[in-house]
Amino acid sequence: MCGIVGYIGNQDSKEILLKGLEKLEYRGYDSAGIAVMNEAGVHLFKEKGRIADLRKIVDPEVSANIGIGHTRWATHGKPSKINAHPHQSSSERFTIVHNGVIENYEFLIDEYLSDVEFTSDTDTEVIVQLVEKFVNDGLEVQEAFRKTLERLEGSYAIAMIDRQNNETIYVAKNKSPLLVGLGHDFNVVASDAMAMLQVTKEFVEIMDKEMVIVTKHNVQILTLTGETVKREPFTAVLDASDIEKGTYPHYMLKEIDEQPIVIRKILKEYSDNQGELKIDQTIVEAIKEADRLYIVAAGTSYHAGMVGKNFFERLANIPTEVHVASEFVYNTPLLTEKPMFIFISQSGETADSRAVLVKVKELGYKALTITNVPGSTLSREADYTLLLHAGPEIAVASTKAYTAQVAVLSILAQAVAQSKNIVNGIDLSHELSIVANAMDTLCEYREEYEQMARDFLSDSRNAFYIGRGLDFAVCLEGALKLKEISYIQAEGFAGGELKHGPIALIENGTPVFALATQENINLNIRGNVKEVVSRGANACVISMKGLDMKGDAFVLPEVHPLLTPLISVVPLQYISYYAALHRGCDVDKPRNLAKSVTVE
Ligand code: F6R
Repeated sequence: MCGIVGYIGNQDSKEILLKGLEKLEYRGYDSAGIAVMNEAGVHLFKEKGRIADLRKIVDPEVSANIGIGHTRWATHGKPSKINAHPHQSSSERFTIVHNGVIENYEFLIDEYLSDVEFTSDTDTEVIVQLVEKFVNDGLEVQEAFRKTLERLEGSYAIAMIDRQNNETIYVAKNKSPLLVGLGHDFNVVASDAMAMLQVTKEFVEIMDKEMVIVTKHNVQILTLTGETVKREPFTAVLDASDIEKGTYPHYMLKEIDEQPIVIRKILKEYSDNQGELKIDQTIVEAIKEADRLYIVAAGTSYHAGMVGKNFFERLANIPTEVHVASEFVYNTPLLTEKPMFIFISQSGETADSRAVLVKVKELGYKALTITNVPGSTLSREADYTLLLHAGPEIAVASTKAYTAQVAVLSILAQAVAQSKNIVNGIDLSHELSIVANAMDTLCEYREEYEQMARDFLSDSRNAFYIGRGLDFAVCLEGALKLKEISYIQAEGFAGGELKHGPIALIENGTPVFALATQENINLNIRGNVKEVVSRGANACVISMKGLDMKGDAFVLPEVHPLLTPLISVVPLQYISYYAALHRGCDVDKPRNLAKSVTVE
C-alpha cells in the first residue's frame, strides 16, 4: 500500500516521477504528490485524488533533476491534501515520502518531538521531523537519517531529499518493498520495478534494515550499523507492454481474458522436456514429510486456498487446513507435530500473511510461498517459492492470479500424489489443457454476461451466491468480486446453511447466483434454489454441461469435476465487471482498496 518513486540524474524528473506514480497507482490512489528540487529550492505539489488530479497542479515551468513522489492509501490520517506525501520538516529543509506504518510514532513524538508543531496527521511526518531534530543537534545528515531509522518500529520504504544537497536521495527499507533502479548518469527508486521500466530494466534489491545513499552516479547500500553491502543488480524480465491496457477499456477485462493464456503458460513452465508436469522435488519432499498442511492467505488468495485444500486432501491424501492470515497471527490454532505452511499471495507482500510467515519461521517450521511476484517479500522469506507466471495483475480485483493459484495448487498436489504413488487416474496436464480451452470458449460470451448483469443486478442492493463443496469456495470468490468493484452487498453461502439463517434475507427479486458443477450435490443445490425461488428470489443458476437443467441461466463447458473452480469463476468475474461498469464504478480502482496490502 502506497507507492514511492525517486529520480536523480540529468533529465527533468517531473514526468518520470508522474509516469512512475501512474504505474504504482494500484498500490493506493487517495492522494498523491511529488517534490522536485532545483537551484531555486524544493517545489512541492500534492493533491487529494488520483495521479491525474496531481498532474493538473504540477507547474510545467518547473524543471528539476532530482525528485521524489508518492501515491497514498491512507492509514494514519484521512485522505486529504494535507496528509498527502511528500511531507516536510518544520524548516522545510527535509522532504520525505514513505510507504508503511511507523508503529511507535506516538512514542517518538513524546520522546523527541514534543515541542514540534506537526502539520499533518500522518505517522510519516515523525520521520522527517526526527531527521531535522538530529541534524539540529549537530549530526551530519546521513548520520541523522541512520539514527532516525534505528528508532523506527514498523514498516517503511523511504526516500528523502535535503534542500541543502541536490546530489543525494536518502533511501531506506524495512518490510515494505523497495528497489533501486540503475541507469547511465541517473538512478531511480521505486516500490515496484514496473514504475521505472520506462527508464531502466536494471534493479538492485534493498533488504530490510538497509539504507541507501543514491546519487546520479552511485548507489551505496549500508546496514544500519554502517557496513557497506555489495549486491549484484538483476534485470527485470517484465516487458513494458505487459503493463499496458492496450485496446482494453480496463485492466480487469484484459486480465479476465488472459486466463486461458495464463493456464497454458503455467502448463509450459511446470512441464519437463517430455511434457510431464513437474515440481521441484525438494518442495514435494517437504510436503510429503508434513503430517498436515496449513494454507495461509487473504481475500481472493484465501479462496484459492479453499480449493487447494480439496486438491491436497482428495489427490494426495494430506490433511489440510486453510486459514485467513490476519486471524492466524493472533489466534494461532494448535499445530500438529510436523506442519508445513503454504502461503498464497498474488503480490507476495501482504502484511497479514507476512506476519504469519515471520511467526512460523520463528517456530522453526518450513514454508512455501505461491506468488506472482518473484523476489517479493513472502517469496524471499519462505524456504521455497512457486511462481504463478500470470504476468502483472494491475486491476485491484484479482482474476487471473486466482485461476493461476488454483492451477498451480492442482499441479503441486498431483506432484505430491505421484511421489506418494497414489494412483488417482487424472492426467492433469490434459485436464488443464481442457480447462484452458473451456476458458477460451467462456471468453466469447461477454454479451451474455453483460445481459446477466443487467437482468440480475441492475437495481439490487444485495446479491447472494450459493453453492456446495468446491462451488461454495467459488461462491465466496464471486461474492467478493461483486462487492469490491460494484459496492453491491454480496455474500456467499454454503447452500445447506441457507435455512439456518441467511434465507431470512430473501425478498422479492433478490438476486441469487447458484453454482451447480458437482454431480454429488447437484440435486441438493437445486433444492436450495427452489427454496429461495419460492420466497421470491431472482435465481441465476450456472451449471456444468451434463448437470444442466431446464431454466439454467448459463451452462459451462465440461471439465474435470475437481477443476471446475477454474471455469465457474469466469462468468462470475465478467458479471461483476459489467455490474460495476453499469453502475459507473471505477472498475480497476475501487474505492478504499489497494492492490498490495502492506499494512496489518
Ligand atoms: C480481491 C483481492 C484481495 C487480495 C488480498 C490478498 O480481488 O485482490 O482480496 O486477494 O488482498 O492479496 P495477495 O494475494 O496479494 O496476498
